[in-house]
Amino acid sequence: MKTKGKFITLEGIEGAGKTTQLAVVQSCLEEQGVDVLTTREPGGSPIGERIRALLLDPDLKGIAADTELLLMFAARAEHLEKKIQPALENGIWVLCDRFTDATYAYQGGGRGIELERIALLEEYVQDSMRPDLTLLFDLPVATGIARAGRRSAPDRFESEAVCFFEDVRTGYLAIAQSNPERVRVIEAGVPVEQVSDQVRRQVTAFLKEIDR
Ligand SMILES: Nc1ncnc2c1ncn2[C@@H]1O[C@H](COP(=O)(O)OP(=O)(O)OP(=O)(O)O)[C@@H](O)[C@H]1O
Ligand SMILES: [Mg+2]
Repeated sequence: MKTKGKFITLEGIEGAGKTTQLAVVQSCLEEQGVDVLTTREPGGSPIGERIRALLLDPDLKGIAADTELLLMFAARAEHLEKKIQPALENGIWVLCDRFTDATYAYQGGGRGIELERIALLEEYVQDSMRPDLTLLFDLPVATGIARAGRRSAPDRFESEAVCFFEDVRTGYLAIAQSNPERVRVIEAGVPVEQVSDQVRRQVTAFLKEIDR
């Protein structure tokens, strides 16, 4: 039987550098001979990407917080069953741009849904499945918003007020604090090369840890 692949997630507010650094994690692993699949949430599967388009549509005003939450987990159920689990079972490592920590941070921290309710859905959809490693890209909200704003027109989440992202950031840091084994915080408000150095260090440390 093949050894199962590892599941690595990248998290952080908009403009934190997740998508930029995903390529760094990927090349770091591929240099070590690891087979890698990169994907993202919400989305990552054909149905999931359709749900993503709905969730990010800036014209979709006034969606109920619970609808948003359930759509996130609907997309995740599809993603896990069709893409993530099959890859992991074939020994492929999966790198995912956002996962359930984002649901806790945005729908919990940002929208104020009780974390216990999110935990119920997490268990329902994922059972005991959790990432093996999470890189949390942390930076001042203003820096992240400025970077994201330079990149493209704002999606539905990017149109939120600064205080929303402050709550999201706080939500993420709380997750890091309660999951120190899994979540590594990266200081992301610095030049891209310095962020990449931290990423390479963390990935190398993780590879050493699992080698023991
Ligand atoms: N360390 C950095 N310093 C300055 N600019 C950066 C840095 N990292 C990324 N950027 C730039 O900031 C923008 C946002 O980066 P990126 O798309 O990687 O963030 P993200 O976390 O994936 O954002 P989103 O959540 O909106 O997808 C991009 O234009 C990218 O080139
Ligand atoms: Mg991105």
